[in-house]
Amino acid sequence: MCGIFGYAGTLDTNTLINGLLKLEYRGYDSAGIAIIKDGKIILSKSVGKVSELSKQALPLLKDTQFSIGIAHTRWATHGNPTELNAHPHHTIEGSLALVHNGIIDNYKTLKRELELKGYTFYSETDSEIIVKLIDSNYKEDLKQAVLDSLPHLNGSYSIAVISEKEPDRIIAVRNGCSLILGIAPNSIILSSDLSAIVEHTNQAIYLDDGDVVDINQGTLRITNFSSETLLRLPVTIEWTTEQASKSGYEHYLLKEIMEQPESTASTVRNRVPTNKELPIKLAGLENVSDKLKVINRIVLLGIGTSFYSCKLGELYFEELTGIPCIAYMTPEFRLKSNTLNNKTWVIAVSQSGETFDTIQAILKAKQSGALVTGIVNVVGSTISRITDAGVYNQIGPEISVASTKAFSSQALLLLLHALYLNQINSNYTPNYDLVDAITKLPSQIQETLENANNVEKLSQRFHNVNDIYFLGLKYNYPIALEGALKLKEISPNIHAEALSAGELKHGFIAMIDENRPTIAINPSDSVNSKTSNAIEQVKARNGTVITLLTSQDDADNNSIIIPQTSELLQPILCNIVLQLFAYYCSVLNGYDVDRPRNLAKSVTVE
Ligand code: M6R
Repeated sequence: MCGIFGYAGTLDTNTLINGLLKLEYRGYDSAGIAIIKDGKIILSKSVGKVSELSKQALPLLKDTQFSIGIAHTRWATHGNPTELNAHPHHTIEGSLALVHNGIIDNYKTLKRELELKGYTFYSETDSEIIVKLIDSNYKEDLKQAVLDSLPHLNGSYSIAVISEKEPDRIIAVRNGCSLILGIAPNSIILSSDLSAIVEHTNQAIYLDDGDVVDINQGTLRITNFSSETLLRLPVTIEWTTEQASKSGYEHYLLKEIMEQPESTASTVRNRVPTNKELPIKLAGLENVSDKLKVINRIVLLGIGTSFYSCKLGELYFEELTGIPCIAYMTPEFRLKSNTLNNKTWVIAVSQSGETFDTIQAILKAKQSGALVTGIVNVVGSTISRITDAGVYNQIGPEISVASTKAFSSQALLLLLHALYLNQINSNYTPNYDLVDAITKLPSQIQETLENANNVEKLSQRFHNVNDIYFLGLKYNYPIALEGALKLKEISPNIHAEALSAGELKHGFIAMIDENRPTIAINPSDSVNSKTSNAIEQVKARNGTVITLLTSQDDADNNSIIIPQTSELLQPILCNIVLQLFAYYCSVLNGYDVDRPRNLAKSVTVE
C-alpha cells in the first residue's frame, strides 16, 4: 500500500529515491517526490516503477542539495494510476505539497465545500482534498493550518506536508496509518515503515495515532491535535541493513524461503527447552498467564497467509489443549455478531502488524472484554501496541510481498502457545517427543531445501497449465490453501484452488481431467490412507497427481520426498516445498516475483 518517506537534513534527490526504493516492496503503481529549491517547490511524479521516477527526477535536480523533501509510492484506491493522481499533491500555484497514506471517508463532502470556496481539483484522489483544505486554513503557520484542518478529516491517514513559505519545515501526522521517525545525528527521517530508516539510523520513534510531528530547521517537536507537547523516546531498531537486502539472491522471495532454517531456529530460540526439566518460555505472555488459566474458548484472527497459519493453529489448540478453538478471517470476523467474553483468548496473527482488517477485528474483540494477544513480526507495529500482550516472530524483515518465512514462524508460535497453555494448567504433562521434534525442525527444513531439485523439474513441466488443484487433509488442508494462495499471487497465469481430500467427491471431482494436475500433500500421517484414496480417485479420472510424500514406497516421477517429522510439524515442511514450486513457476512465467501485480505487502486500507 502507499508508502511515505520524508527527510529533513542535507539531502539530494537520491536520498528520496533510495527511500522510495526501500518502500517499493509494499506495492505501488506510481511514485513522486517534492523538494524545495530556491524557495520553490519542485515536484516530480511518474507512473510505474521508482526507477522511472529516478530517470525523470535525477537529471532535473542533479548535484543539487536541499534541506527537506517528501516522497511517496502510491497504491491506487481513488482514481487510476496516473501522473495526475500520483503524490505529492499540491495547490494550484504550487506553494504546498503533501503526501498521504490512507483513506479520507468524507472527501466528497469536503471537496464540495472547497469548491464553493473557489478551489479546483486536477485529480480523482481523496488526498488532493487534504492539501487544499490545509491551504484554506493556512495563514502564516503551517502547523496551525494542519491542526485547524484535522478535525474536518474523517478516516485513517498519515500525511506529510511542506510549504514554500516555510522552506525548512515538514509537518506530519499519524492517525490510523503507520508512520515512524528515524533519528540520525544530522537528520530526521519520516517513513511508513522501518525498511527506509535502517540505512540512516538504528534509533526510531514509533508514532501513535493522534501524533503531530513538527520538524523545523532541524528541531523536532511532537504534539497531540491540541498542540500539547508529547514525550516520545527513540528505541533501538534490531533489524539490520543486511537483513533488509537480497544478500546475493535474485529475489527476496527466494532469500526468504532459503532463510527458513535460521528463521525458524530464531523463532524457537530461548523459548523451547534444551533439556527436559525446563518449560516452554513465552516471555510476552507471562503478564497475562493468570488470565490464561481461566479461558474456555480460543479465537484466532488473521487474513491471507496469516489466516492459513491460524487454520493450522486451530487444529493445534484443539488437539493439544482440548479447548474449543476457531480461526476467523478478520474481514469476516468484523461482520459477525460479537459472542466473545472475558473468558475468550483471542490471538491476532499478522506479519506486518498493520493490516487494517486485523486491527479493526482486534478492536472489536477488545470491546467484549476478551484477552487479546498478538503474534507479530514487525516490532513496534500497530498490532503489537494495541494488543494486551504478545510474542514476536523474531525472523527479521519479510520484504517479498508473498509471505513465506512468516508462515512457518506463525505456525510454530501457535504450536508453542498451545503447549504454553497446557503448561500453565495443573494437569500438564510435558510432550517431550513434540519438543524434540520442534528442536530438530530447522535442520529438517535445511534438508528439505537441499533435496528439492525435483520441485524445480516439476515446475518446468507444469508452469504453463491453466489450472492446478492443491489437495490436503487435516493438518495439510491449511497447507493446500496456502500453497494455492502462493501460486495465485506470484504466478497468476495458473488458476490455483485448494480442496480438502474429503470434499473431492462433493463437487471438485467433476473438474478433474488430464489437463488439470493436482498436487496432493500426503505424508505418512494419521490420514494418509484417506488422502491416498482421494489420489486414486483423481488418477482414475486421468488426472495427473504430483505427490508430496515422506516415504519412497508410493513414489513415482511426480513425487517429492520430504523428511518425516511429527504429524503436527509436517505441514511446515510440506509448505516449504509448495513455496518453492510457486517461486519456480513465477520465474519461468516471467513474473515480477517480489512485486506481484495488484498486491501490496501490508493492506492498510479497507
Ligand atoms: O501482515 P499480515 O500478515 O497481516 O498480512 C496479511 C495478508 O495480507 C498477507 O498474508 C497476504 O495474504 C500475503 N501477500 C500472502 O502471501
